[in-house]
Amino acid sequence: MSTILVTGGGGYIGTTLVPFLVTKGHSVRVIDRFFFGKNLLPDSDNIELVQEDTRKLTLEHFDNIDAVIDLAALSNDPSGEHFQELTWDINYKSRYATATMAKQAGVKRYILPSSASIYGFQETGVIVNETSPTNPLTTYAKANEKAEHSILPLSDENFCVVILRLSTVYGYSPRMRLDLAINGMTYGALSSGKLPLMRDGTQWRPMVHVLDVAEAMHFMMMANADTVNAKIFNVGSDNNNYQILPLAERVAQAIPRTVDIEWYGDPDHRSYRVSFAKIEALGYRATRIVEDGVKEICDANEAGIMIKNSKTNTLQHYQDLEYWYKVIKDLELHGGMLRI
Ligand SMILES: NC(=O)c1ccc[n+]([C@@H]2O[C@H](COP(=O)([O-])OP(=O)(O)OC[C@H]3O[C@@H](n4cnc5c(N)ncnc54)[C@H](O)[C@@H]3O)[C@@H](O)[C@H]2O)c1
Repeated sequence: MSTILVTGGGGYIGTTLVPFLVTKGHSVRVIDRFFFGKNLLPDSDNIELVQEDTRKLTLEHFDNIDAVIDLAALSNDPSGEHFQELTWDINYKSRYATATMAKQAGVKRYILPSSASIYGFQETGVIVNETSPTNPLTTYAKANEKAEHSILPLSDENFCVVILRLSTVYGYSPRMRLDLAINGMTYGALSSGKLPLMRDGTQWRPMVHVLDVAEAMHFMMMANADTVNAKIFNVGSDNNNYQILPLAERVAQAIPRTVDIEWYGDPDHRSYRVSFAKIEALGYRATRIVEDGVKEICDANEAGIMIKNSKTNTLQHYQDLEYWYKVIKDLELHGGMLRI
């Protein structure tokens, strides 16, 4: 079995993916700043944690690594707009450097988790596939597209590069994100009976469960290199291609209390309906549906293991870290605050 380097393995997808890879018999080296906490992954002889910034990697980080799954990024549109320069640095430049170093170090496979948001806005009736023109509307989506364009040409017969354009992810994970559509709708509806919904509800958005993402990544790790090398795959399923208002109604129906829709924001200009025929032709299926995600979030809430706080909102958390870092730097004397 392989040793896999997962950057950003302490994040929402990573804290589900890493234990999943271990159950499949792999060893994992996680490289992460652990911005969301160091204790979200299980203790295991098969998981090595390295606290490092992906902008500072060296060839040694790739010693004995068979494959890289490069999750580390500022992971949504609001963070991308607030930290534009850093999004270019981390999501594009740093991932390009990671892929280049992986190739140099003799790693055999590199998986880039890009985003279906690079389809941006598409006219009603259009169903995009991997050859359709992209239309990235945000810094986050543009940085993903640039990473795709620069990393794909690194592929050759010894270095298999796979690009996965992920749908918006949902479901419970130890680093919980309530800033993702289904998760946020579920939590709002559950906690206050008010389901937050971005106007105007007609926009199309593909969704995919976090465990289906872990399975897709494992699938691409194990697939014959000749079948997947230098290819782009949309990850999701037609069952999970939703218009946002009907999606919200399904979420509301799956919640065991009366729920009202609470509209917010200006009309969302991102709307894309996506084909998953290419990945399905290889035998991969994303099997979970919205009700599965809603139920596990309700269960996690009931069990008291999912608490909404600033860490469950990615942008809020990064803004808080930046704010407190400055405060602490300004006040720190003799290596401490009150305790010196
Ligand atoms: N969640 C989704 O809906 C979705 C959809 C499409 C694509 N993706 C992509 O999947 C990847 C993971 O997303 P996620 O939802 O798990 O996000 P996340 O924010 O939960 O995780 C990102 C992780 O990267 C780490 N990180 C950030 N900058 C770093 C740096 N410079 N050095 C080291 N570590 C750093 C963070 O500490 C965090 O643990 C991202 O690339 C994201 O763009 C996610």
